Amino acid sequence: MENEKLVNLAKTAMIHSYSPYSRFKVGAAALSDEGSIYTGCNIENASYGATMCAERVAIYASIAAGNKNIKKIAIVSSSDKFTYPCGMCRQVMAEFMQADGIIVLSQGEETKEYRIGDLIPNVFHFSN
Ligand code: THU
Repeated sequence: MENEKLVNLAKTAMIHSYSPYSRFKVGAAALSDEGSIYTGCNIENASYGATMCAERVAIYASIAAGNKNIKKIAIVSSSDKFTYPCGMCRQVMAEFMQADGIIVLSQGEETKEYRIGDLIPNVFHFSN
């Protein structure tokens, strides 16, 4: 039920994807430990490096609203295959999710679930 709601919100966010260069649409919905949900889509730029992934848009929206603990994030895309988060998004997820935080991938009628701790083992954390 929770997954279905997140996936549906991610699909709605994907409608707003700005992806004229890759024509690859992505949507994401991040659930905080307080129960609030923030969504994102990928936003590309003519200067390709300025492109932002859907997952980070959703996570950063949550941070900006004051919710720094994400417990689950759903990801959908326009591809006919499951879309896994890129390395940079995994690193950002690891910053704001516990190792047992869940990533839900949806494609067609199927879903897959992963723990962020498994998608980015031995993650870099800064300490001094
Ligand atoms: N993209 C995402 O939004 N999330 C990912 O995890 C991988 C890639 C976007 C960035 C770019 O707009 C397009 O997909 C192709 O790389």
